[in-house]
Amino acid sequence: MKVLVAGGAGYIGTHTCVELIQAGYEVIIADNLCNSKMDAVYRTEQIIGQKIPFYLVNISVKSEIEPVFMENKIDGIIHFAGLKAVGESVEQPIEYYQNNLNCTLMLCEMMKKYNVKKMVFSSSATVYGDNEVPFTEDMPLLPATNPYGESKVIGERILQDFIVAHPDYAVSLLRYFNPIGAHESGLIGEDPEGIPSNLMPYISQVASGKLSKLKIFGNDYPTSDGTGVRDYIHVVDLAKGHVKAIEQLEKNAGVYIYNLGTGRGTSVLELVTTFEKVNQVKVPYQIVGRRAGDIAECYAGVEKAKNELCWAAEKNVEDMCRDTWRWQCYSIK
Ligand code: NAD
Ligand code: UFG
Repeated sequence: MKVLVAGGAGYIGTHTCVELIQAGYEVIIADNLCNSKMDAVYRTEQIIGQKIPFYLVNISVKSEIEPVFMENKIDGIIHFAGLKAVGESVEQPIEYYQNNLNCTLMLCEMMKKYNVKKMVFSSSATVYGDNEVPFTEDMPLLPATNPYGESKVIGERILQDFIVAHPDYAVSLLRYFNPIGAHESGLIGEDPEGIPSNLMPYISQVASGKLSKLKIFGNDYPTSDGTGVRDYIHVVDLAKGHVKAIEQLEKNAGVYIYNLGTGRGTSVLELVTTFEKVNQVKVPYQIVGRRAGDIAECYAGVEKAKNELCWAAEKNVEDMCRDTWRWQCYSIK
């Protein structure tokens, strides 16, 4: 089976390419490198020991993406392409809606025209909003608090409507919790531009001395130690979830929705102390006020993915901290 990995040069995309190829899939990447580097593709090729066909294209532009479908007989798409910074999406809502929704719409158009019947879509736990934990797939979604989150809610809706009109097609909506960690080779991982806004890259840059101190956003939440709780999932486990999802779509039609998380919540302070302990480093921090838009707790109900996809996360928070640090030390300049 030939899979087009849209946005495949990015953080989750590169890890998924490794797992797909190791599971025997043929992979093609389409990416405009707006938030990634060609070097990540070369490193992915180094891990698997083979070249990956790469198209430098804007997926939302028909004249750029259509040749990919004309030149290849694509059987399925894994769609990672999108902008993902929550804060930036509040400042640039139109750019976020335009890019994220147009990528999804254009890929649907190509699916119809080139008879590609399978798509796995990157959604997010953000679609649950501030619901009761654990978040389960059958919960009604709450309105998103930012344009990024709303682009995921609308993206899910577009794909559900697409399947109503094309019931012989198949779509999997994967709601990721908080992906962190890196490939254990140390060759690929997350390398955000500028000052990171997510917790793990921030911790790792404080540990390396690149940043001086972590600011912990609030210690007055109704959680065990007052700091925010999230369901951190190792990016390699997440990547393996995509292989299971595409496998399921090979045999089935319709819409499938799964949480990809561990089902376990970890507080900010727990993540900091685990990182310090497993890597033998110091992460100085200071407690500051809450960050606007943050919720107290977020973790996944994982039964559905376990029962229907036969997938469960295997790596723990220690593994995530160790692998992030290896990547930070050996690969980030
Ligand atoms: P990433 O930014 O590393 O990867 C996204 C890739 O898409 C990048 O390589 C970027 O260059 C590419 N891209 C964006 N717009 C494009 C366009 N118009 N044409 C071609 N390529 C384009 O992000 P990631 O962390 O790997 O996330 C992948 C997907 O998962 C995104 O859709 C993101 O919203 C979603 N997601 C991520 C997280 C997370 O915390 N990392 C959580 C939930 C959901
Ligand atoms: N945090 C800090 N200091 C920081 C950064 C984060 O204390 O410098 C705290 C946050 O307040 C939160 C936790 O660390 O309690 C995790 O924050 P992240 O920014 O790493 O992640 P979020 O849960 O806020 O958001 C992530 C993705 C979103 C996605 C969401 C739900 O960034 O794209 O998970 O899946 F929508």
